[in-house]
Amino acid sequence: MDIARTPATPDGNPEMADAATEPHKPAIIKREDYTPFGWVVPEVQIEFELGLELTRVVATLKVERNTAAERTPTIRLNGDGLTVRELQCDGETCEGYMMDGDDLVVTLPGDNHALRIVTEISPAANSQLMGLYASNGMLCTQCEAEGFRRITFFPDRPDVLSTYTVRMSGPKAQFPILLCNGNRTATGEQGENHWAEWHDPWPKPSYLFALVAGDLVARSDSFTTMNGRKVELNVWVRDGDLERTEHAMESLKRSMKWDEETFGREYDLDLFNIVAVSDFNMGAMENKGLNVFNTKYVLADPETATDGDYDGIEGVIGHEYFHNWSGNRITCRDWFQLSLKEGFTVLRDQLFSQDMGSAPVKRIEDVRVLRGVQFPEDSGPLAHPIRPDSYSEINNFYTATVYNKGAEVIRMMRTMAGEERFRAGTDLYFDRHDGEAATCEDFVKSIEDGAGLDLEQFRLWYSQAGTPKVTAKLDHSGETAKLTLKQHVPPTPGQDSKRPMPIPLKIALFDRASGTHRGEELVVLDKAEDTFAFDGFAEAPVLSINRTFSAPITIERSAPREDLVFLAAKDDDPFARYEAMQELMGGHLVAAVSGELGENERIAAQADIARAMGAVLVDESLDDLMRGELMTLPSQSYLAEQMLVADPTRIHEEREALKAFLGKELRDEFHALYDRAEKAPYSLDLASRGARKVKTLVLAFAAASDPAKAVELAAHQYDNADNMTDRQGALMVLTGIDSAERTGRLLDFYNRYEGNALVIDKWFSLQASSLHPNAIEHVKALREHPDFTLKNPNRVRSLYMAFAGTPHHFHSPDGEGYRMIADLILELDPINPQTAARFVPPLGRWRRIEPKRAAMMREQLERIAAAPKLSRDTFEQVTRSLG
Ligand code: ARG
Ligand code: ZN
Repeated sequence: MDIARTPATPDGNPEMADAATEPHKPAIIKREDYTPFGWVVPEVQIEFELGLELTRVVATLKVERNTAAERTPTIRLNGDGLTVRELQCDGETCEGYMMDGDDLVVTLPGDNHALRIVTEISPAANSQLMGLYASNGMLCTQCEAEGFRRITFFPDRPDVLSTYTVRMSGPKAQFPILLCNGNRTATGEQGENHWAEWHDPWPKPSYLFALVAGDLVARSDSFTTMNGRKVELNVWVRDGDLERTEHAMESLKRSMKWDEETFGREYDLDLFNIVAVSDFNMGAMENKGLNVFNTKYVLADPETATDGDYDGIEGVIGHEYFHNWSGNRITCRDWFQLSLKEGFTVLRDQLFSQDMGSAPVKRIEDVRVLRGVQFPEDSGPLAHPIRPDSYSEINNFYTATVYNKGAEVIRMMRTMAGEERFRAGTDLYFDRHDGEAATCEDFVKSIEDGAGLDLEQFRLWYSQAGTPKVTAKLDHSGETAKLTLKQHVPPTPGQDSKRPMPIPLKIALFDRASGTHRGEELVVLDKAEDTFAFDGFAEAPVLSINRTFSAPITIERSAPREDLVFLAAKDDDPFARYEAMQELMGGHLVAAVSGELGENERIAAQADIARAMGAVLVDESLDDLMRGELMTLPSQSYLAEQMLVADPTRIHEEREALKAFLGKELRDEFHALYDRAEKAPYSLDLASRGARKVKTLVLAFAAASDPAKAVELAAHQYDNADNMTDRQGALMVLTGIDSAERTGRLLDFYNRYEGNALVIDKWFSLQASSLHPNAIEHVKALREHPDFTLKNPNRVRSLYMAFAGTPHHFHSPDGEGYRMIADLILELDPINPQTAARFVPPLGRWRRIEPKRAAMMREQLERIAAAPKLSRDTFEQVTRSLG
């Protein structure tokens, strides 16, 4: 159901209008209200007569009373926009039913029944992309979280597990390939039509159901499991895309092997299918044996995909594959437990990617996402614990908090237990709960028992929202260094006061003279304040803290700049080195923006930063991937997060000023680095990727300090590129600088890749997130481009997410950026509410923005809230954001 509010009466009667405009508040669902379903549905049989315009669905449900639940005279079958065409109970037409809203409620006298339900749906008209929908002439499904109820009436909740037998039929010419979960058991032909029968032996909740029908071709391969079972693997794409599926297939095989070696998990069917579709709300979906993917996370070749795209594919393929155990074999009892599968699976995919590439760089990237997306969420109106307490629309809770902070919370358990004991904990979890719909509590208890940890207080990480702030102070006297740690968990909506949480911090104390330390230690701060003493230090050591980002917190310490310069050069933990550079640059930028900085201070700080950066540029012990991390300035959003109230214009100005300063100061070192990196031939090796990364970073520094030179270099890099990373990097820099080269290369890029949707998405994104002062005008013009459509989520995101994620445009002082995003939300909401609602959070940040802009942001939120019809998705996000 999409309509959360009813329009005013047309006659203008004030009383009537009042009553009618009183927003019909969508129901709030609470975690504490969970009760088991009154029925079990051991078996489901579904027949699909497939058509783009009309698909007929005949579902037969075997239902039995759940002896573990309270006895009820009725069964509630969820629906969303469906009407009952036929209903039979035990072979007889059934009259004993009623509609309750969109749900079908059937009265059932006995304890065992067979219900046969006929529905008809129109995939072509399904623009929400939930349930069964059409994409590029093919049919596909997305059922998580509550899409199955748009296909047939069903107890659409994750704790109802059934085995599915599916028969699908349709025109052979239009849908030559028919796929479903599990194994194909029979096929046949009937004139123009053909059919296939599929059976999935593993009981599953309805959200894991999937069906695909279309004109597809496959890259096929196989994998032999640790117990010698041969599994057929297919990656299905449209004709013409086959050459771009090799990386996806290789990633899949690596994932399967890694999960056996690292978690002892073996695949459990003889067939594993992946299908790429171009219209998809999210990244991908772990449906049993039939993963459905956004094309963005499948298709790659050097000409059209960047190094980042390659990494994204490996990570998402891994993620969905790993769900087979953490998600499918053990699923969630209810949607409040979402982090049970998502937090754990994100951790698994992060560890996988760490093992496949550069572990430290992957860790830094993951922390950057956490800080750039999750920290702002956790400090704003949409803050929620990784296991939320209530929701109105569950799609709004597929968040960085549930996913990424959820992964960090489990990572902390792993850090405290050590790898081996953590593995004993996950083994116990898989053993104990295989085949069940479990809870976060089940997971924690298994780790507690299996790893031998006491996690009683640690459970607070599941119930308390907000990013803890830890203040660290190191004192030295005599031979002793004393570390005093204090924690504060800030209030969040609905949670005014918090209890101290256990915070595991990896630390090292460096000897200044030798640049070494005597071993890393793990301290766990589990009180509001605690002191840890370390003996045997004749001189005051340098503190390295939260190494590898062992806890998802912010550290406040007033480290002298010389200590940060020291750590940036000498710390043996690459993450801590990165952190020291971030702190060095971030500390200066925050001070500069707040206007507290005297001219002498500025000069001294810039000199220290240049000294540290200069050392990074020539340090031969660093690989270029890591060097690139150390060269990266803190993002605008991360800087804003460190201020109570931010002025986005000032942040942008100071950040650009620092880039310009460094570009001038280190000109020769930058160019020497570029010249060396330019000689590396293209390959997917880490060294070659590193070379590409530092090249484009050098261009970005040049753009700030010497735009004419940057244009020359970037145009040259663009023209000579033999891969998308170099080409996109060069075009990114050119797009920010007004020049003939800008216009020419943008046109060239479009002409070169016209018709390749994923690359044209890049073309939209580059212009929407550029440094060009007229980017707002460019976005408005691109909105009218013939290739723009609101129907395709990738295209919408490529223009508008890129724009909303670029603070210096989104926060344009005249409020134009806010108006554009609000217009988009209002226009997109009736088409695709799930995607529309994802644009609300940027506007919801108003409390943390300077008052003039804050008022304009609120004004746009209020304008959205006043719209006559809003989806439950958007209504909930806007209401929470207005607070
Ligand atoms: N379970 C999927 C994944 O993380 C995401 C599906 C989200 N779908 C949605 N409609 N919110 O891999
Ligand atoms: Zn997932």
